[in-house]
Amino acid sequence: MPDLYDDGDMNNMPSKLFEIERRIKNIFINYSFQEIRTPILEDANLFKRSVGSSSDIVNKEIYSFNDRNEKIIAMRPEGTASVIRSIVEKKLDHLSHKLWYMGPMWRYERPQKGRYRQFNQAGMEILGIQEGLPEFEMISVVCSVIQEFEIKNCLIKINHLGTKQDKEAFCKALVNFLEPYKKELNEKDFERLHKNPLRVLDSKNAETQNLLKKAPSIKDFIDKSAINLLNSIKKQFSDICDIEIDYSLVRGLDYYSGFVFEAISSELGAQDSFLGGGRYDHLCSQLGGKEMPAIGMALGLERFSNLVTLTNNKIKMVSFIILASNLEPKAYKIAHDLRSFNKAVVLDISLAEGSLKSKMRRANKNNADYAIILGEEELESETAVIKPLKHELKEQQTVSIEDLYSFYKAL
Ligand code: HAM
Repeated sequence: MPDLYDDGDMNNMPSKLFEIERRIKNIFINYSFQEIRTPILEDANLFKRSVGSSSDIVNKEIYSFNDRNEKIIAMRPEGTASVIRSIVEKKLDHLSHKLWYMGPMWRYERPQKGRYRQFNQAGMEILGIQEGLPEFEMISVVCSVIQEFEIKNCLIKINHLGTKQDKEAFCKALVNFLEPYKKELNEKDFERLHKNPLRVLDSKNAETQNLLKKAPSIKDFIDKSAINLLNSIKKQFSDICDIEIDYSLVRGLDYYSGFVFEAISSELGAQDSFLGGGRYDHLCSQLGGKEMPAIGMALGLERFSNLVTLTNNKIKMVSFIILASNLEPKAYKIAHDLRSFNKAVVLDISLAEGSLKSKMRRANKNNADYAIILGEEELESETAVIKPLKHELKEQQTVSIEDLYSFYKAL
């Protein structure tokens, strides 16, 4: 994971990451989802039994180690398996739930732009409700996130993998089709052909993609209601986001059946998918619980933050400059009072010793709207200087502390 330190690329926001996380959480809460926090460490078997032993994640990307009792422990590579484990353990699998989570995940990948060994996800899961409305709710949340951050140039791809039986029949037909050409496949696609045939559809190899043009399509294996669902979702949300039905869309985790989706952006380069999810109705029973229909999605916060530009047109920023070192405690108390009077304003105090010039430089770098300056003279006469930094015509003025408080309250 790149060190996430909010400096330099803040688009003049006090904290870009904080703001992104805050607004995404607000969307989850606004849709009446409840937070769930699961441990970072899990029994490694959990992921073999859920994400699937043929998936890249389990095959080569799990970070695991033996604990003191020689139990194999894994750093979670994703959140869904842990959520279902928790629901099964608490015997809540007969109820319906709308849950969200946010936090770090680990996958042992070759690090590159947009692909990190530690990264953060914001995810949500709707549990206990059959195919239908949850699909609309899910895509509605995705559209709300895209709308909230005014993401341009993005596309939501949707597909339907049918029932477990449809998926199996399609996999069989795909293997039968590709088998005669297996010598033409590269090593990776050859390996996938028998381990996880659906993933051949994801191949980045041009020759494989050419071969696949004549391959059977999932469209011929799923029933009319699945196709209707795809068309209906596309119709309802197309005026908000670009939505495309892509019958070759498959997901890298084994637990999916039914509706699946991904959001991609051409601005992200090779790792263009910033969000993905789908239905996984059999995971709960696979993990020892009841049959519980489920659907969910996760958004990668690092990839997403590369698409977000935030503008600082709402939050006011003030630089509080103290120049009278022997009277700082008194000045500090004034700053404390200001902060309590108006919590919508960000008040930055340069805590290090320094000249007025260096402190003004900091104020300008922070893109502050005003500087409030307290030197010895001001503190003795119980006044302060207010210097507007963004209004060229306005002069600085000296005001009483009482007037300073009124000015600050009105910002
Ligand atoms: P996923 O597609 O594996 O799905 O990951 C979701 C998102 O996490 C990706 O779209 C991407 O933005 C981000 N991501 C994944 N791996 C990395 C990485 N190595 N570096 C940076 N970002 C990454 C899941 O994890 C499923 N649990 C989603 C889900 C929830 N399905 C149902 N419920």
